[in-house]
Amino acid sequence: MQLKLLTIIFALFVAGCVTTDSNLTKRAVSYTDYSGRDKHTALVFGDFGFGTKQQYKIGKAMKQACDRVGCDFAIGTGDNIYEEGISSVNDSDMQAYFEKPYAHFGRFDFFMTLGNHDHRGNVDAQVAYTNYSERWRMPSRHYAVPKLPTWARFFALDTTRVNPQQIASAEAYLCSAKGWKIVFGHHPPYASTESTHNPKPTTIYVDQTKRELMPLIKKCRIDIMLAGHYHLQEHITSPYIDILVQGAAANTTGRGPLDLDKEAKSLFREKTPGFGIVTVTPTTFSAKFYDQEGKEIYRWSKSKPLS
Ligand SMILES: [Fe+2]
Repeated sequence: MQLKLLTIIFALFVAGCVTTDSNLTKRAVSYTDYSGRDKHTALVFGDFGFGTKQQYKIGKAMKQACDRVGCDFAIGTGDNIYEEGISSVNDSDMQAYFEKPYAHFGRFDFFMTLGNHDHRGNVDAQVAYTNYSERWRMPSRHYAVPKLPTWARFFALDTTRVNPQQIASAEAYLCSAKGWKIVFGHHPPYASTESTHNPKPTTIYVDQTKRELMPLIKKCRIDIMLAGHYHLQEHITSPYIDILVQGAAANTTGRGPLDLDKEAKSLFREKTPGFGIVTVTPTTFSAKFYDQEGKEIYRWSKSKPLS
């Protein structure tokens, strides 16, 4: 009897330790209402989750740049937790590779997407983690950024597992919209560099993404894609869409360059660690790329009538 009691006490102690170690509190998630604004500014970063000094350094530069220009929220382009994603919401990697490197942002919405490395782990846990963080926001594997004005549509894609439901949701949200139609996700449909962080050859992802996303991009006339996967900063233009690749928020890697698809063209391509910031108004879209010191290395803008 005494042994049984001791066993129960030990089990309760272990359970208590697990809860204490994770230090997680479930909370109600609320989103800032931006619907009445006439300008939005978003930090864009990707392929960050290593927990290295360089990630911290870039995280500091991200915040300083945002303080200068006034970021409303962040867009994450995936590969959030290397190498294997997370196993549960209690996984300590979420603290080491996301919360701590960006704790200095305080209460700030990071709208996140899933990368291929995240898919090696429990992606539902990354979705559920939204309820345990004051920063991490991934309400579903694919979703529309909430409470934006009708002229600024940001839709998050899970490019590693595109399915008909995801495409139908994106079409319903984007196709008939006026203003800027922006998708963000991990894999772009064009690439000029071979990634070294891949379980498979890069071209498989590029070919797959092009096959799966180009019909949506063409049908809904998507203006911009914010992507990652390739550990560099790049602007690729094509007759159908402009792609801003931000996959350098912890390091730069990759072999290459590859031959870019003949219908696309690389306007800027640098293996410079850093991040981007984009600003949208009803008729303008502008982007700036920054290095890890916060120095601007590229800028681009586009305008169109609100229609
Ligand atoms: Fe990736």
